Amino acid sequence: GRVCLAYSGGLDTSCILRWLLEEGYEVVCFLADVGQEEDWAAVEKKALSIGAKKMIIEDLQREFVEELCFPAIQCNAIYEGRYLLGTSLARPVIARAQMRVAQREGCDFVSHGCTGKGNDQVRFELAFYTIQPSIKIIAPWRDPKFFQRFAGRNDLLDYAAHANIPVTSTKAKPWSMDANLAHCSYEAGILENPDQTPPDDMWTMTQDPLSAPDKPVDVTIHFEKGLPVKLVTPEGKLTDSVALFKELNKIGYVHGIGRVDIVENRFIGLKSRGCYDSPAMTILRLAHLDLEGLVLDTQVRSLRDQFVTHNWSIYLYNGMYFSPEREFVENALLFSQRRVNGEVRLRCYKGAAYVLGRSSATEKLYSAEEASMDSLDNFSPEDTTGFIGIQSIRLKKYGLQKVEEGEN
Ligand code: ARG
Ligand code: SIN
Repeated sequence: GRVCLAYSGGLDTSCILRWLLEEGYEVVCFLADVGQEEDWAAVEKKALSIGAKKMIIEDLQREFVEELCFPAIQCNAIYEGRYLLGTSLARPVIARAQMRVAQREGCDFVSHGCTGKGNDQVRFELAFYTIQPSIKIIAPWRDPKFFQRFAGRNDLLDYAAHANIPVTSTKAKPWSMDANLAHCSYEAGILENPDQTPPDDMWTMTQDPLSAPDKPVDVTIHFEKGLPVKLVTPEGKLTDSVALFKELNKIGYVHGIGRVDIVENRFIGLKSRGCYDSPAMTILRLAHLDLEGLVLDTQVRSLRDQFVTHNWSIYLYNGMYFSPEREFVENALLFSQRRVNGEVRLRCYKGAAYVLGRSSATEKLYSAEEASMDSLDNFSPEDTTGFIGIQSIRLKKYGLQKVEEGEN
């Protein structure tokens, strides 16, 4: 059979590649460029030297930003109140591209190096099955033939030595990382102790806020239909999605914006400690949330928060991107964003972004005149007496009952 393997060039997937060849498969390797730093030529060379038929690398940065990161911003997506879903967002574009390659290359199998305890295996495999229900999946870390032979890192290193697989990792970091334009994640290894503070040199996409410059930088982010369409910084204007996203990552890096350190609940039921730095996503999410305050109808906002933000985030986390429920809530999301037009001015400074002001040329829900404490035009205070009176009917009954029961 022919397999399309998600290959990173690291120790695990290099051993998996070699093992698949030993098992008699022909292997086409695939690696997605979702904005991570990588020596692409070295990965290709390594795959071919181990015995891959081909190494295919695809640049998915634009589809990642426009089709996943931006909808996440429109949605204010967040998991368990903290995690901005950087890895979860990348999985659908990677899985889709890997299936495209598998189909083009005539592979009847796909394979990956996800562990048996994580979220990623679920995300990739559910995506594969939806895109091509007939696909066959090889998950070595869940195959006893593989995991019984490679019980630990030392077995992998021995195998690599015997098979002449160069181990390029200059002293592997004592945690595992997954980087893309949205974030870098750090998990496992020394981080498994949730009370162990990560060393400062772990973070790759943000500098320590303590070393951030004393001089803030102010930026303006323009939105149309809830989508970031323009970024204005002291250096100039950017309107290209990928370019403005990368620029926000740069600014966020310098000012140390977007670090989180959490214990989260994985879909399969385990708790896991994870650290994430997501500068651009953090800044964009704040700006978008703020603009919605100015322009979004209160009831639409409430429904969107309860049903769309919450569910869309969980669908993405749980690997349900290619599902009817995600499509359903995303339609509601897009509808809610029709009037989310305007701009937000922000200050990036010492680990956070702060809102300096917001405006919208097109939206008229907010009226300074109406909200003003100094004007009674178009407003009759007696109406509010009635409003409170009616609202209180039910609460008075409740209060009376409590008084009778001696609780008040
Ligand atoms: N816990 C995060 C998530 O499930 C990050 C996963 C990181 N994945 C990885 N292969 N290192 O989205
Ligand atoms: C893995 O287990 O392969 C990485 C972590 C995760 O998927 O949650």
